[in-house]
Amino acid sequence: MNKTWWKESVVYQIYPRSFMDSNGDGIGDIPGMISKLDYLHQLGVHVIWLCPVYQSPNDDNGYDISNYQDIMDEFGTMADWEQLLEGLHQRGMKLIMDLVVNHSSDEHAWFAESRQSQGNHYRDYYIWRPGKDGREPNDWASFFSGSAWKHDEVTDEYYLHLFSEKQPDLNWENPTVREEVYKMMTWWLDKGIDGFRMDVINLISKDPRLPNARDGIPEMGTGEPDGPSRYHFGGQHFVNGPRVHEYLQEMNEKVLSRYDIMTVGEAVNVTPQDGALYVQEDRHELNMVFHFELMRVDAGPGGKWDLRPWRLSEIKSIITQWQTLLHNKGWNSNYLNNHDQARMVSRFGNDTTYRKPSAKMLGTLLHTLQGTPYIYQGEEIGMTNVKLPSIDDYQDIETLNMYKEYSAAGVDHQQIMESIYVKSRDNARTPMQWDDSEHAGFTTGTPWLAINPNHHDIHVKEALADPDSIFHYYRRLIELRGQNDIIVYGDYRVLQPDDEQLFAYIRSYEQQQLLVVLNFTDQPQSFQLDEDVTYNQPELLISNYGGDHGRELAEASREHDLHSLQLEPYEARVYLWQM
Ligand code: NOJ
Repeated sequence: MNKTWWKESVVYQIYPRSFMDSNGDGIGDIPGMISKLDYLHQLGVHVIWLCPVYQSPNDDNGYDISNYQDIMDEFGTMADWEQLLEGLHQRGMKLIMDLVVNHSSDEHAWFAESRQSQGNHYRDYYIWRPGKDGREPNDWASFFSGSAWKHDEVTDEYYLHLFSEKQPDLNWENPTVREEVYKMMTWWLDKGIDGFRMDVINLISKDPRLPNARDGIPEMGTGEPDGPSRYHFGGQHFVNGPRVHEYLQEMNEKVLSRYDIMTVGEAVNVTPQDGALYVQEDRHELNMVFHFELMRVDAGPGGKWDLRPWRLSEIKSIITQWQTLLHNKGWNSNYLNNHDQARMVSRFGNDTTYRKPSAKMLGTLLHTLQGTPYIYQGEEIGMTNVKLPSIDDYQDIETLNMYKEYSAAGVDHQQIMESIYVKSRDNARTPMQWDDSEHAGFTTGTPWLAINPNHHDIHVKEALADPDSIFHYYRRLIELRGQNDIIVYGDYRVLQPDDEQLFAYIRSYEQQQLLVVLNFTDQPQSFQLDEDVTYNQPELLISNYGGDHGRELAEASREHDLHSLQLEPYEARVYLWQM
């Protein structure tokens, strides 16, 4: 396996709007980030992934870009951005930017031109079609509810938007569009950035015939359950579409391969087999993908908003498939939450009695799998989901559109709110909690989105002062990863895959073995190491019990009987030995 810096790195994701406000307008900004660089450096992360900071009318908080080569006024200036990059590089950290090129904003100059006339030079930059029988060209649903088509009066045609109607899809079939994108990427790379996170990159190639959602392959599920609308998820015609690998290989050849950078593509609905096609090193496309399989374990047949409890055996099965399939071929990215997902500790841990131990247990999983760990801002202090009093307090377009659609279909208000409390993207977007002051130290003004009322207890100031905090545990995990090649490069073998309480696995590398045991329940559990695993004088590397990340437990660890371990609620243990 090739060794590279991005396999050895830990990435920290910043959601700019909610990270740190420097000028009191209630919106996070780049000078705010700069003021927290020492904090990030202290945590020990190596790479910052910055969600979009480009010019945008903010229909989808920056994922609708009106100018790819300029900074959003609310976030600062290009000079601020340059200072951020310099500040990171001075501290030995790197910066990757969000590349959002499945769609632009409808306020991008290309689209303003494109809609003018059918003969316009930019017409073919987007996907336009005449209506059919007075309706949309096909029955595809938008990810954000309703039809994926919007009628435009100027030319009496429809344009495709898989996301909001202010996010028209770019037409990758057009080679000029691709050249424009590559030119823009090169421009950023020449400014010195260290890579890209690519937004919904596996959706860029659509079947140009644009068939109805269920036309074509009747046996194949549509991949994404429908909501109550008359439109359907058309994924089989654009998820891993016909030319996507051709486009990425072209992008790799023309742009990516010319720089020492890292790339991670957001890939909707990919299986490990699909994923391998993007990241296998010999295919020259991307370094990593973010898959969604773990993010679906608590979705019922009705989709994201249809709540169901997850099962640990399913989580293990998904992780195990990705770990084994990509081993020695490509590279995994590991994440348990981000700006589109519920908070990890509320979803997979326990955000009341066992908030701290369960956040540390999940962190242990994140940092001891093969693959690059991605931390989402606030995760390192155990920030939780939020219940905002009214639907009017929510800001996220996906949540608001879904609320309208489900209400119109007659679904009970309280039932929709229950789903929102569990799944809304705003759970992850409430501002960073820096201290226990009125606005959590995030802003002196009125925050753009409510601050979680639990900021009086959960905040950075407290976490930095407490040596036993989640923050310091994460710091230690990152340090251990840096000191032990086995954590980065070792292979993975799951133990007891059907057990619904404990997640245990063995990593092996050269002459070493590492055992990770995680209790996913709020009850004590006993763990018996499989009889066929032999060990020798195990050293406890870290635990979330036993004081100071397990140091007290570690003292006698060479005598621990791994064939019979007692674990506290949400306890995590990591043992290392020489073979
Ligand atoms: C995925 C991004 O992470 C999400 O926030 C956004 O709404 C969609 N892509 C559309 O760009």
